Amino acid sequence: MTILVTGCAGFIGSNFVYLWAGETREQIVNVDNLTYAGNPANFESLSKDAKHVFVRGDIGDKDLISGLLAQYKPRAVLNFAAESHVDRSILGPGQFIQTNILGTFNLLECVRAYWGELGEEDRAAFRFLHVSTDEVYGSLEPEDPPFTEETPYRPNSPYSASKASSDHLVRAWFGTYGLPVLTTNCSNNYGPYQFPEKLIPLVINNALSGKTLPIYGDGQQVRDWLYVEDHCRAIMKVLAEGRLGETYNIGGRNEVANLTVVKTICAILDGLRPRADGKSYAEQIAFVKDRPGHDRRYAIDQTKIERELGWKPLENFESGMMKTVRWYLEHASWVEGVTSGAYRKWLDLQYEKKSNV
Ligand code: NAD
Ligand code: DAU
Repeated sequence: MTILVTGCAGFIGSNFVYLWAGETREQIVNVDNLTYAGNPANFESLSKDAKHVFVRGDIGDKDLISGLLAQYKPRAVLNFAAESHVDRSILGPGQFIQTNILGTFNLLECVRAYWGELGEEDRAAFRFLHVSTDEVYGSLEPEDPPFTEETPYRPNSPYSASKASSDHLVRAWFGTYGLPVLTTNCSNNYGPYQFPEKLIPLVINNALSGKTLPIYGDGQQVRDWLYVEDHCRAIMKVLAEGRLGETYNIGGRNEVANLTVVKTICAILDGLRPRADGKSYAEQIAFVKDRPGHDRRYAIDQTKIERELGWKPLENFESGMMKTVRWYLEHASWVEGVTSGAYRKWLDLQYEKKSNV
């Protein structure tokens, strides 16, 4: 048995690959075109594992995807591949439309053709699982109830609009063609292998490099943080037991304001790797210009996945953050590798008018 998974050189995908390799004997074909966010070093230790096949390629490439489906005959396709950073989508939305919308469209069409040719039993067992985000629901006010699967889509950034669009395509391929799809909408992930453009790894990296820790606006925006391995376990559950055509919200029940997240990281670093001058890393915090259209609050109601599939996160915010900070301290060479070249250019573009990051 084989599954084909896209985007596994990125943050969540590479954590998924490790979990999959550790918990199953099933082959995984990993398709990723290695954008700035994709790093083959993320799954280096699986390079000699015959069950892990890496193919460099674009989800928008029809011949490649059709060829891989014909060659490997997967029983499921999981789509992690995406442009995933909100700030990048604001500076340059084009690639988000290309990958997140047109790429998903191509994948759906290739999969539909492949699935249509399967024998009855294989057709019934086949699954297409689309990994999406809570950002499609838009922004919550402080007193609003958390997002449920019934919350209307109200995306506010080019990133979330492109993900919302891809979710609608997936839904339509179920309604129109009967393709056996599943969609997951997850809150903010954190943990190993996250590219240091996202808040948590950026703050750890900047703190250790003696740079400022940039807080957009007043820092009171709230995110619902989930340790990445818990997200990956939820995806495995949905793949195995999710009801066809359904969407599942996944969250951490960990609503934390950005400023608190940053202060938590500083406190952990103060304990594990104190600054030479004895001062707290919190001294490096700097308030910078806000993100345009910045969503104020996300929160997930995950009752459905808990009730129907029996999933629950294993980590809480404190335990997950401690693991994460320790991982980055122990993997300085990984950080060094991804923070060179293109990443530095991106930092210049994103932050030149905001601070001296
Ligand atoms: P990431 O940016 O770290 O990784 C994305 C991966 O996709 C990279 O390896 C990149 O090379 C690859 N990719 C990009 N365009 C591609 C293309 N056209 N063809 C093939 N591969 C391509 O992203 P992530 O944080 O790991 O997110 C993975 C998925 O999970 C995304 O769909 C994202 O929307 C979703 N998601 C992320 C979070 C989060 O907090 N990071 C939360 C919920 C959902
Ligand atoms: O909610 C799920 C989403 O979470 C995923 O779909 C996205 O792929 C993922 O990038 C993430 O989006 P966010 O925009 O919430 O994550 P980010 O790490 O970019 O920012 C988290 C919060 O921190 C957000 O309110 C913006 C703020 N922030 C971010 C950066 C990079 C800062 O204050 N300063 C910063 O330098």
